[in-house]
Amino acid sequence: MIQWTGPTDRLPDKGAPQFDASGKIVLPGFVDSHTHAVFSRTRADEFEWRIQGTPYMDILARGGGILSTVKTVRETPTLRVQFPNRFLEFGTTTIEAKSGYGLNLETEIRILEAIRSVEKLEAVPTYLGAHALPPEFHDNRRKLAEFCDVFVEPGAFNTNEARRIFAATRSLGMGIKLHADEFESSGGAALAVEVGATSADHLGAIADADISRIAKSSVVATLLPATLFMLGHSHYAPARKLIESGAAVALATDFNPGTSPTLNMQFVLSLACTQMKMTPAEAIVAATINGACAVRREHRLGSIEAGKDADIAVYDLADYREIPYFAAVNFCVATLKRGELVWKQ
Ligand code: NIG
Ligand code: FE
Repeated sequence: MIQWTGPTDRLPDKGAPQFDASGKIVLPGFVDSHTHAVFSRTRADEFEWRIQGTPYMDILARGGGILSTVKTVRETPTLRVQFPNRFLEFGTTTIEAKSGYGLNLETEIRILEAIRSVEKLEAVPTYLGAHALPPEFHDNRRKLAEFCDVFVEPGAFNTNEARRIFAATRSLGMGIKLHADEFESSGGAALAVEVGATSADHLGAIADADISRIAKSSVVATLLPATLFMLGHSHYAPARKLIESGAAVALATDFNPGTSPTLNMQFVLSLACTQMKMTPAEAIVAATINGACAVRREHRLGSIEAGKDADIAVYDLADYREIPYFAAVNFCVATLKRGELVWKQ
């Protein structure tokens, strides 16, 4: 735990073990608050189909997309979070990870257990079943998931279906997240405000009226620019309008085998700055303390303050703005999770 912060010459206990980060940039570990990190096969085939002109939602409508990952995940006997050590290497100490590639009771549970069993990296589990809730979850007996998420989009679920799921969610004491207005404005952001969601994610097609609704609420607007970048879109979520209206904006990778095969938060910061005109400082806030708010861990994570977990990333750079500036290059040379050195170059 962080005991104290201040200038080196006033360090109270000089005898304690030291990690010298002089001349380097020290940040709180990134809180990547939106991933689908448990899967078993990539979808490089669909990546090529999209380049050749087939839209993402069309691939899903034909039984591919998310459903192709569901097929391979169901067939995989031992599921795990993909590349946990790579997250640490890029300065991420906490991720949120969703189920949703099982869509049956047995596999959804196996995915949530895989999220629970990850070591060193902290992983916050979200249930993304988005079908009728199976009976085992009605009393949330095993408390496997902290959040429930629904993909609200034409071709996936509509707001009425999502409302029914969230009514059950609330009675279980779980937090609510939504994939909202990713490609079309279909009421997802407004529903997030209505149901008191912790976060509304994507928002690539959010309507102006919903920007002010989000801004007046306590819903975190989680933006995922790597998804739109990897889908080859040139239109991004209106980060500036959201920030200027007073919304709390978080940034995350959306790491998944379909739309966003990157787990590099530094790259997400580069996209946030260049494509959504966030300043480097706004992007870092969005990727640390606001990400912590999006997983209800702001009391413990997301900033370097006495009393918080010592989740720290050290960059071999002279200016924090160089983190987004050096696009897609990793300058993270050391990562600590709860004070333990979990990555060192
Ligand atoms: O956030 N849009 C829905 N879910 C994911 C993609 C999942 C997949 O394609 O496997 C997303 O983009
Ligand atoms: Fe997602």
